[in-house]
Amino acid sequence: MPRIFINGHPVEAEKGQTVLQAALAHGFFIPYFCWHPALSVSGNCRICAVEVEGEDLDIACNMPVREGMRVLTDSEAVQAWRKRMMQFITLNHPVDCGICDKAGECTLQDYHYEYNGEPSVSREPKVHATKFFRLSARVLIDNERCILCSRCVRFTHEVSRSRALGIQNRADSSLVRASEDGRFEDDPYSDNVIDLCPVGALFSPSLLYRHRVWYLQATPSVCPGCARGCTVRIWHRRPDWALHALDGRQNEAIARVTPRENPAVNGPWICNKGRDLARIFERPRATQAMLKGEPVALGTAVDAARRLLEGARRPVALVSNWGSNEELEAFQRALGGRVRAFVKEDFSPAPGEPVEDDLLIRADKNPNTAAARALFGDAPPAFEDGTDLLLVWGEGLDFSRLPTRVPIICLNAYLQPENGHADVFLPVSVQTERAGHYTNFQGVVSAFEPCFAKRDSVAHAESLFAALASPPGPSP
Ligand code: SF4
Ligand code: SF4
Ligand code: FES
Repeated sequence: MPRIFINGHPVEAEKGQTVLQAALAHGFFIPYFCWHPALSVSGNCRICAVEVEGEDLDIACNMPVREGMRVLTDSEAVQAWRKRMMQFITLNHPVDCGICDKAGECTLQDYHYEYNGEPSVSREPKVHATKFFRLSARVLIDNERCILCSRCVRFTHEVSRSRALGIQNRADSSLVRASEDGRFEDDPYSDNVIDLCPVGALFSPSLLYRHRVWYLQATPSVCPGCARGCTVRIWHRRPDWALHALDGRQNEAIARVTPRENPAVNGPWICNKGRDLARIFERPRATQAMLKGEPVALGTAVDAARRLLEGARRPVALVSNWGSNEELEAFQRALGGRVRAFVKEDFSPAPGEPVEDDLLIRADKNPNTAAARALFGDAPPAFEDGTDLLLVWGEGLDFSRLPTRVPIICLNAYLQPENGHADVFLPVSVQTERAGHYTNFQGVVSAFEPCFAKRDSVAHAESLFAALASPPGPSP
């Protein structure tokens, strides 16, 4: 382990580390734009230069640690260099911060205040470039804001491997562009470049001008889009900044989804389906309990379900593989001894959806098959004769495949035609309204927390199972 000195303090660096990595690991901050821990070193922005005693300034992101080296990260020479580099990098950068979606989490903005803070020294007019240029249906670029760090380009070459982005032309005519064969359009990981961009050059047309980051809060969650179970942050409006006069639905809407870095599961990335969780969670909800399609109070429906369960001799349950570990265990505890339960697959790949690859995406489009299978078997191809009650939890079941004249208790969170065909329908909460855990296909358990409050007219499945196991009578 090479021993180096940073600003006079001894530091035990890892063999093979760069000075930038060693400094960050030991609490010494060195600014960087083009370097990213999950990408190759490009060394083009030059903002990370440090002074090594007895040597010229050089960039820390490409400087291997050497035994005994004495590094200064904040000397007068380094400060002067950073100021000049910030002048250079912002030479043609527009003064867009007031309208830029990246404001509040922009590295360029932060470094300008920290290391420069001066107006431009240039007397030349700024060079203009394309704004709102479409790289794909999901990603736009403002080339005036781009600082040509090449993180986005390297991502498509090294991580998603679509090799879909490149830099055209030279010098102040340089432009990030997508290849003309549309590969970027088909890159299922394309939106990661928006997070990677250290400035506000890359953005999503669907989010443009819709949110200010300081009005949002991020709740830790897990993407249920496939068995990988990527850990994510779901961003939504902060309760203390709730809208009262404008569209109140925004208070309970997903603003955006970003990766929650997790070396055991997804590293720093997620796929585009994970970005689009609002399309899953914000489908029309089922909020009304029903008996044979007729609205009733939730307690009345629970009592009717209890009576059906009590009267059944050979009840069968099809258990959702979107249920959390806690819900699956609650089902097993409350009803496992009473009902023959099998795992039901809620989702299979949608037409046109990437099925599987060697980065993240898994063919099983459900988040908790591993935990469900640890408790219950797979559903049989046909139901045994004598089955006299079916409990169907979750989505994805074609009711026409169920035996006729067998009463059905159905638990679902979304508005679907099958709900009205059930003898008893019980509306349940969704993942964004409760806490829990999923176990991914590798056995890694990840937690999610609630983003929004549950409505009174729907129940948490976990508490419903306990209620269904108690004898008929007034609802708890
Ligand atoms: S668009 Fe962003 S990530 Fe890509 S090169 Fe420009 S500044 Fe870097
Ligand atoms: S790879 Fe699977 S779990 Fe990860 S973000 Fe995509 S759909 Fe979600
Ligand atoms: S971070 Fe080192 S040169 Fe860009």
